[in-house]
Amino acid sequence: MIFAMDNELPLGLEQDDIWQGFRNLEAAITRHDGLYYGKSSPEISDWEYDQLKKKHRELLKEYPFLRTQASAADVGDDRRKGFRKVPHRIPMLSLGNTYNADELRAFVDRVCDSCGAEVSFVVEPKIDGAALSLIFENGALVCGVTRGNGSEGDDVTHNAKTIIGLPHSIERKDFPALLEVRGEVYITLADFEEINDQRQREGLDVFANARNLAAGSLKLLDPKLTHQRRLRFVAYEIGSCSREFPKHEEVLYFLEHCGIPTNVHRVAQNFADIWSAVEYYDRERRSYKFATDGAVIKVNERALRDKLGAISSAPRWAMAYKYCPERVVTRLLSIELSVGRTGIVAPVAHLEPIPICGTIVRHATLHNANEIARKDIRVGDFVVLEKAGEVIPAIVGIVPGRRPIDARPFIYPEFCPACNDSLKRLDGEVAYRCLNPNCPPQIARRLEHFASKQALDIDTLGPQRIEQLRDARLLERFSDIFRLTKAALLQLPNTKEKSANALLEAIELGKHRQLWRLLHGLGIPHVGAQTAKLLTRRWSSMEALMAAKLDELQSCEGVGNIVASSICSFFGDPANRQLIGELAALGLSMEDSIKESNSADKASFFAGKNFVITGTFRAYTREELKQRIERAGGNVKGSVSAKTHAVLVGESPGSKLADAERLGILTLDEEQVVALSGH
Ligand code: IVH
Repeated sequence: MIFAMDNELPLGLEQDDIWQGFRNLEAAITRHDGLYYGKSSPEISDWEYDQLKKKHRELLKEYPFLRTQASAADVGDDRRKGFRKVPHRIPMLSLGNTYNADELRAFVDRVCDSCGAEVSFVVEPKIDGAALSLIFENGALVCGVTRGNGSEGDDVTHNAKTIIGLPHSIERKDFPALLEVRGEVYITLADFEEINDQRQREGLDVFANARNLAAGSLKLLDPKLTHQRRLRFVAYEIGSCSREFPKHEEVLYFLEHCGIPTNVHRVAQNFADIWSAVEYYDRERRSYKFATDGAVIKVNERALRDKLGAISSAPRWAMAYKYCPERVVTRLLSIELSVGRTGIVAPVAHLEPIPICGTIVRHATLHNANEIARKDIRVGDFVVLEKAGEVIPAIVGIVPGRRPIDARPFIYPEFCPACNDSLKRLDGEVAYRCLNPNCPPQIARRLEHFASKQALDIDTLGPQRIEQLRDARLLERFSDIFRLTKAALLQLPNTKEKSANALLEAIELGKHRQLWRLLHGLGIPHVGAQTAKLLTRRWSSMEALMAAKLDELQSCEGVGNIVASSICSFFGDPANRQLIGELAALGLSMEDSIKESNSADKASFFAGKNFVITGTFRAYTREELKQRIERAGGNVKGSVSAKTHAVLVGESPGSKLADAERLGILTLDEEQVVALSGH
């Protein structure tokens, strides 16, 4: 019997299914490895290939017994017949990769947890070419080797010497006796096009992309042919070296000073820096001469790299973040209308589900009626969908040649799809609005906005919870939130003591937010978060703001005439004045000093409970916040579990925030901890 004891295998036939599925997956990976590495002519996109590898890793993790049979290569194999094989003194590993910002954050957290404060990172573009190791002995380029299977590669020295801009000898006193430079061989996009044009003129097959051409050209047997391919090189690492470099950034500077073409890079201290560099290289990459498909994030301190080590095929000190495939084509099944908090009725495209970058996309925004008409988008069309970074996908156009004969133009309705009130276009606006303030989806969206992170930030009071509370007739107006009782919550389906308590505590915290948050949450037309902040800087209490005259509001910096009259008419409405009165009576802070709870509350909030801290903070260090919690009787733990009472979240939080969200645990910010723990 092959099955080990440590798996949780389903019984019977399913075992065979798993085996069979795994074998098929391995066969597919092996085939695509051969096409990619061996023949330099892949049939599937990198993204699809990465998904196969991801599935392979997941199966091995879930069913450890499969490991006995696993054969798919971890790093691929680009060795070819006809070349001398050269062992790598230090293995040429592959890189772990992700398309997901949270997974990158988890990598950064892992590294920081293992290395402590002294770690920094270097972020570089990930060049989409072929890996090459160049050995310099006493300043002379003596050998060029492909990655091969990671342990040994093909000797391609004769081809490496044709690389444009690569020095064959370096005369510097400080040049190490032995230096192995690792980097990527590429062909510029301009050269690629020219080479393909020429091949087309000669009736030859064209190359699918610049990477395949570079990889293929590096492994030609005749260096004269390779020379015609105009290969170039960018260095991004060193392998064996007879000199110590404490930091990776120093390696890059040194190589650059030696005249070796070197990758651009940015040094980053934390996740926020890393992410901004990743986004920067995503914006810049269109202007590069070579193709890039992501960014590589590496530990800067070389001693820490040694400490972190490697798993079978990839180092623990580096990770590739790969950019999404940006555009895909799918079919527009229908256009539905969604009513927003301000009554705008926006068209939403319902699509034939399609994966972009790891998430299945089913909906996309169509903006407004004018946009649909301008792009002549019809139900049934094949549409081009674009997803840049993490933003909501948008339809950028249609594929005219694939329009079905029965594709129908979209006719905007005259009535609100939710409440049947007639739709209006206000002067100067492209959007249609439902002007009925009691329209049910508008109420739901207003409540969602009021409780959202951008407003009162009431943790766990999200769209689903709001819908559930509205179905139970417990929630209709903002003030109802603060009338919720534990007894009422416990009547709701799937609501246990713990989640009821968490919600009530979050509501309690929501009462004491800064005034701009409440003001923003009220949803006064034209008053966004920025305007709310400007207003509360000048009027630090709701009472004072409500008493402000139109001309006073107009004279406030950043508040124009439209905003000022919108505020006046909002507070002039008796129903709104009554709402504010109710909220004040229910205990919401109506002025900008964080109310301090009395010491008994403070003691009971922290006493005997467990807290976790993640991210960086503005006014206090982590240690200071830890001490505050401990002085108030709380315990600070390193990881989030079901026993955690609340997580203190700063800027650039780590995976602990995701853990808290997953477990429905309360989150606090710095101000709240300070207010609740007293001075
Ligand atoms: S560092 C231990 N940095 O991507 C691996 N690799 O998919 C160290 N690549 O094998 C590699 N740009 O061929 C590194 N800036 C960069 C890179 C880069 C492209 C390639 C490299 C690597 C592959 C992994």
